[in-house]
Amino acid sequence: MKKINNKLPSGNYNIFIGKNILSKLTKEIEHLNLHKNVLFIIDRNVNKYYYKYIFDNIKAKFNKSDSIIINSNELEKRIASAEKIYSQLIQKKYGRDTLLIAIGGGIVGDIAGFVAATYMRGIQYVQIPTTLLAAVDSSVGGKTGVNFGDAKNIVGCFYQPKLVLIDTHFFKTLNQSEIICGMGEVVKYAFLSDVNFYNYLNLNLNKILKLEPNVIEKVIYESIKFKCSVVMQDEREDGLRKILNLGHTFAHALEIAQKYKIKHGQAVIVGIVCSLFLSNRIGYINKENLNLYLKFLNIFKSKIKLKNLSTDEMYKIMLKDKKNRNGKIKFVLPIEIGKIFIDAECSVSLIIDSISESIKFFVNK
Ligand code: GLY
Repeated sequence: MKKINNKLPSGNYNIFIGKNILSKLTKEIEHLNLHKNVLFIIDRNVNKYYYKYIFDNIKAKFNKSDSIIINSNELEKRIASAEKIYSQLIQKKYGRDTLLIAIGGGIVGDIAGFVAATYMRGIQYVQIPTTLLAAVDSSVGGKTGVNFGDAKNIVGCFYQPKLVLIDTHFFKTLNQSEIICGMGEVVKYAFLSDVNFYNYLNLNLNKILKLEPNVIEKVIYESIKFKCSVVMQDEREDGLRKILNLGHTFAHALEIAQKYKIKHGQAVIVGIVCSLFLSNRIGYINKENLNLYLKFLNIFKSKIKLKNLSTDEMYKIMLKDKKNRNGKIKFVLPIEIGKIFIDAECSVSLIIDSISESIKFFVNK
């Protein structure tokens, strides 16, 4: 088992990573003196496959506990889902001394975190991510929120969990598309972090896709370690943390344009390819490095399908991105591994061109 301590201005918390470590939650609840009035917020599929595993392993003596099961679907990551949880909390008389335990992927974690941040002005919560994507990214760092209208994660706040427990036992039912999804965020860290991690991923991509235990644990550990090093310096994304949005401006627009038929992590891979082309077009990455980086991402070509994508529509959606300033889209662009430019402004024609090149990359298998 591996452990990382995320030291933040708003408080410290531990992140544990390992196989079959769920039973550790009981000890940690005692150790951290967390509240014993517990509402579990569990993903529907996770509940179906792991109900027994979860409740055989969590043996803490709660004063009271209930569960609410939710669907992991971007279209349901909305205020209405949060309202259902508030109703349950109020109806069952949960007070400020409540602990929410989120067990599921990024959507479950984001909604649960949002409810924890807002119910009675803030209650405790624990993240138990069950997908690779949630493990390496969304469960750590305290971004919580829901979609509203046609904007992604537009309503939300920064609110940190008390604990993150990553039990890779949950990964055994992940299908290939969910693994690819998680890889979207992992690949992001490859560009942000350093040449060692990039080379390690380059050598081990096939093993990661097969979720080989030692390799996957190292990948999660290195990804989170890097993310924490960034979030520690800039918890509320005033500067450095923006790098974690590499590929995300394109990705969010793509998800919306494809009516969420493409998953977030897959969209991030496409978004990173768009960023690479854009970075090349404005002269940050030379042709040789562009080709090298695209070769690294080749493995994902056959695994991501883009249907009827209009570059103009994607551009229009990007104009509504929450990271824009003064009506200008701000991009995070890679220069080389470990070297990133933030808040780049680019001409419309270059943005459209980079989307078109990226579509060609994924269409020409
Ligand atoms: N997912 C990007 C961040 O947490 O800042």
